[in-house]
Order: sequence, then C-alpha cells, then structure tokens
Amino acid sequence: MMSEKLAIHGGPKAKTTENYPMYPGGLEIGDEEKRQVLEVLDNQYLFRYYGPANCESKVKRFEQEFAEKMGAKYALATSSCTGALISSLVACGVGPGDEVIVSGYTFFASCAAIVAAKAIPVIAEVDETLTIDPDDIEKKITPATKGILVVHMRGVPCDMDRIMSIAKKHKLVVIEDCAQAVGAMYKGKFVGTFGDCGCFSFQYHKTITAGEGGMIITNDKRLYDRCMSYHDTAACWRPDRFAEQRYEGELFCGSNFRMSELTGAVMLAQLQRLDGLNARMRDHQHRIIEQIKNTKGIKVRPCYDAEGDTGICLMFYLDSKDKVEPFVDALKAEGVNAAGVFNAGIPDWHIYAHWKHVIDKKTPTEVNCPYDCPYHTKAEPVEYAPDMNPNTLEYLGRVVHLDIPPQMSDEDCDMIAKAINKVAAVLA
Ligand SMILES: Cc1ncc(COP(=O)(O)O)c(C=O)c1O
Repeated sequence: MMSEKLAIHGGPKAKTTENYPMYPGGLEIGDEEKRQVLEVLDNQYLFRYYGPANCESKVKRFEQEFAEKMGAKYALATSSCTGALISSLVACGVGPGDEVIVSGYTFFASCAAIVAAKAIPVIAEVDETLTIDPDDIEKKITPATKGILVVHMRGVPCDMDRIMSIAKKHKLVVIEDCAQAVGAMYKGKFVGTFGDCGCFSFQYHKTITAGEGGMIITNDKRLYDRCMSYHDTAACWRPDRFAEQRYEGELFCGSNFRMSELTGAVMLAQLQRLDGLNARMRDHQHRIIEQIKNTKGIKVRPCYDAEGDTGICLMFYLDSKDKVEPFVDALKAEGVNAAGVFNAGIPDWHIYAHWKHVIDKKTPTEVNCPYDCPYHTKAEPVEYAPDMNPNTLEYLGRVVHLDIPPQMSDEDCDMIAKAINKVAAVLA
C-alpha cells in the first residue's frame, strides 16, 4: 500500500482540530468552584482552624471526602505535594544518615523532598513501564536504606506487589508519590493506599487542581499525627492546642505546609469531577491505543495494571532513539501535540540526568548535609553521574509522549491515531 504524503512533506494534515492544553481539571473550573469559594469569602473563614463565625472547614471536609474516596483511614491536606512528601518522610522517621531509593524518572521534587528531609537519595532505574524497576531497587539496597519513594509516573501504577514485598523483606518504609496519578489503581485499589503514606499534588498541571495543593493519605494513626505535627510548624492544632504530646515523638518543630480554605473550597468542587475526568481520559487513550496497537514499528508503553492507568497521556516506543525527533516533528506537522522525552541537550526536570543540583551534590551550606553526613556510616558514599542509569535513558530516549486532555472529542482521538499511523508508515 502506498503511504500517504506526510504533512511535513507538504501533504494534508491528519489532525485539523484545535489542541487543548493539558490542564484537565483546570479547564473545567466552573459554577461549583465559584460557589464554594464565595462561601469561604462570604463567611470570612479563610484559615482552616478558626474564623469569625463557627463554620465547617472546607479543608477538613475535603480531607474527609478524599480519604473516603481513596479508601484510606486518614487524609491530611497540604499546600503542595512536595510538602506532603517531606512531611511523610519525616513522619516515617527518615532523617540524617538514611538513604531513600527513588525513581530516576519523576519530577525533581520527589528527589528534593528526600534531601529536604536530610536523607540521601539513591536514584534507581525505571523499567519499560517508566516506573521504578523493582530489580534495581533490590540492587540498590544498602544497610543505610530506610525507604523507597515510588512514583506512579504519568498516571500509571508501579509494580506494588513486588515493591511491597521487597519493602517487607528489608523492613523499609514506602512513600507513594501519586502527584501525577490521582485516581490511578493497582489491582482494584487506589494508588497511595499501599505504602506507609501516599502523596498527591493539586498543582495546576495535575488532574484535579486549585493551582497549588497537596494531600497525604495513610492508614496509620501515628503517621497521620506525625505528618500533622510536621505540616503545622509545631503541631498547634491537634485536638487541644496546648496539650502535652500524647506519645514520645509526636511533637517536634515542623514546617508550615497547611492548606488554605480557598484551596480546600476549590478542591471540594474538583474532587467531584475526578471520576468523570479520568473516565474521559481513559476512553480517549483506549480509543487511540485500539487503532495503533498493531502498527509496525511502535510499541505502546506497557503497564503493571492497564485498567488502573488514569489515561492522562499516551506514551509509545520507537525501536531507535534516532527516529524520535523526526517522528515527533512529523506528528507536529500533522497537527498533533507530541514530544520526545529524553534528549541530553534539552533540560527536563523529570529525568535524573538533568538533576544537576543532585548530581553535583549542591547544598545551601558548606556543611554539605545530607551528603557529608557523620551519621551515614553504614555504607559507601552515594555518588551520582548523568549516565549512571543507562536503562532509564535508553527507554526515555526512545519514547514519544502525547498528553490526553479530557476535553478532546472522539473525532480528535481518531485523527491522532490516524496521524500516528500515517507517520509510522513512513518513519517508524
Ligand atoms: C511526580 C511528581 N512529584 C511531585 C511533584 C510536586 O508537586 P507540587 O508542585 O504539588 O509540590 C510533582 C509536580 O509536578 C510531580 O509531578
């Protein structure tokens, strides 16, 4: 069969409709968000713990609804996922002298949170799912390893069975970074409920959003209380503000990662949209995959539980990294918003090889905490290099990424699939 003339070579475009930006919940902000926010303003009740009148806190209500939705016992709202991660690490007892294994493909914040908790990040490989490779976790465990920070990257769940069994065997804590995977599931259970703590982001690019915001979920009351202490400077707002600590280790000086009532109000409305957004993104993703799954020269990113993928994006592999740039350029010319992922020359904060501050062990003071740590005695110094995780760079070098905005129509999906097939016929 003759291949069609590509748009990049002067042929007609396969996709002629508008492309939506990737702000899934952000683009749906409407009457319910306005109503909730106006209620906060009308009541002049902007701080979760008090105000002029006796109002129900929106943040508290959001925590209750989020916990119920995810099937977790406790939820603590925070100002960001970074704050949620730091609070969770501290609550789990991670600190000076500890190593925490983290995925090499994640937003830099996952790694920075470990350093902020004064522990040393050990950066692990991802496998073909682009989530942390359980085999590499096992290789990177040392006597100093205290935990694993796994990232359900780009909407797909990690291999939680393997990860939890490794953690159990080596007595490690597990923090799940679900920033990009709110509503993702693994074997029928929401991600964030497998490890000790699950952390979420409501930053503007995320599925549901208030511009900024985060959440911690846990089933462990002690961890919840310790997260509460850390996220609120000095645990002022436990049941009784001035009460003595209820057990050794409950009270200590923390930070301030509290969520504002305005954020809580927007998030209450956004949470109602979560299932609908994920259903639309999943439908779109499936519709495109159905049409490209047998296309020669491309392989859709595998997943540990395809049913649990939130569908926020479509990622597929080409058989060589050299094909990615021409493929992406051709897709763009067809009218499709596509991107390559790893290119050594183009910085991207989601790939460890670009995390210069970690690789160079940059710290704010000359003491060089946590890297030169007198408590890090049980293992060799941790060293970094841009090429230390070759599998990760190999996978990311061959992958093509497309966002799947929920606002797209079936027609948009069909045109995207057509464009991919058209370009693959010539360039894959
Ligand atoms: C995987 C991952 N972890 C953590 C974060 C940090 O989230 P926040 O901006 O809410 O602190 C992000 C945000 O982009 C992320 O994508």
